[in-house]
Amino acid sequence: MQKRQFLNATALAVLALAGGQVMAQSNTFKIGLILPMTGQQATTGRQIEAAAKLYMAQNGDMIGGKKVELIIKDDTSIPDVTKRLAQELVVNDKVNVLAGMGITPSALATAAIATQSKTPLVVMAAATSSITEASPYVVRTSFTLPQASVALADWAPKNGIKKVVTLVSDYGPGIDAEKFFKERMLFNGGQITESLRVPLRNPDFAPFLQKVRDLKPDALFVFVPSGAGAAVMKQFLERGMDKAGIKLIGTGDVTDDDQLNDMGDGALGVVTSHHYSAAHPSPLNKKFVDAFQKANKGLRPNFMAVGGYDGMRVIYEALKVTKGNGGGDALLAAMKGQIFESPRGPMFIDAQTRDVVQNIYLRKVERKDGQLYNIEFDVIKDVKDPGKAR
Ligand code: DHB
Repeated sequence: MQKRQFLNATALAVLALAGGQVMAQSNTFKIGLILPMTGQQATTGRQIEAAAKLYMAQNGDMIGGKKVELIIKDDTSIPDVTKRLAQELVVNDKVNVLAGMGITPSALATAAIATQSKTPLVVMAAATSSITEASPYVVRTSFTLPQASVALADWAPKNGIKKVVTLVSDYGPGIDAEKFFKERMLFNGGQITESLRVPLRNPDFAPFLQKVRDLKPDALFVFVPSGAGAAVMKQFLERGMDKAGIKLIGTGDVTDDDQLNDMGDGALGVVTSHHYSAAHPSPLNKKFVDAFQKANKGLRPNFMAVGGYDGMRVIYEALKVTKGNGGGDALLAAMKGQIFESPRGPMFIDAQTRDVVQNIYLRKVERKDGQLYNIEFDVIKDVKDPGKAR
């Protein structure tokens, strides 16, 4: 055997053993929550950590006769680190569930560990369609980019937007957004005149935006990950693109609630499609937003927070049903098919795909009570990930 193969085989045996030991474990139920707490994706980690802690504060930590313990690790959004932390959490800490996953490469790097150790992996942020197919132990409570993009491509041509340039971060979710937005636009008689991709790490949007200005489309469709939207908005406005008659549209990642209120009046009127707005007008969401802000010095929850909050709900309910018996497979079975009202609206975990089915809302940035919000004006109900329908 090659040395590497041997190491892999050993790691697998250790992981399998760790999975078995969990069943015989004590009265604690451990959730290993891996998030980017520092670096470019730090807001994602901050939002999900706050939401997970809020969920526990509201629902207690004795569930199904077990004491729930949350172990938070910072992967700095480096996939090799995510993988190593997941391995340590499974082997050393003997966690019952892995969760978090701030970006797609982190989720993909961890999927094999979930499979080998039979540990459910609750993806609370990452949103490339294919993640749920990387392991039968993945359950997703965030969203997918195809899910969010298609609604906007149906709305745009009916609202005077025929020629569009796309600008996406050059990795999984960006490529999904570009592909599914484009296909649907073409189907609806629209045109994509150019597709631009910017690097995920330290992107400089300036040269790309200059190009868009020269191309003069009706609109620029943007996907960038949570945390990068404000930079896009700033440079879009600085270049006077709006005054040149180019509209900014995108998935709701670009008008992220974590940053939106600081983007200024230039953001007014921007139309996006997404699964969550802090302004979603339901009593449950109002309660969620109030409690979240109260516990976090006024921080407004964004779509990452709601992915974390609902992810905790899925884990808690599975623990209630199984009482911690039957290991990862029993937990996973109890996660599949869960249906409930989230602060985002109704949602369920498709038992077949383990992916989230939810409403997608069309929203426009407006000023409400002195603050900028994504105000929902239309809804497409119970949207499945179109990435899996083919
Ligand atoms: C991903 C990360 C994000 O911050 C986001 O808004 C959407 C998708 C991802 O890496 O999958």
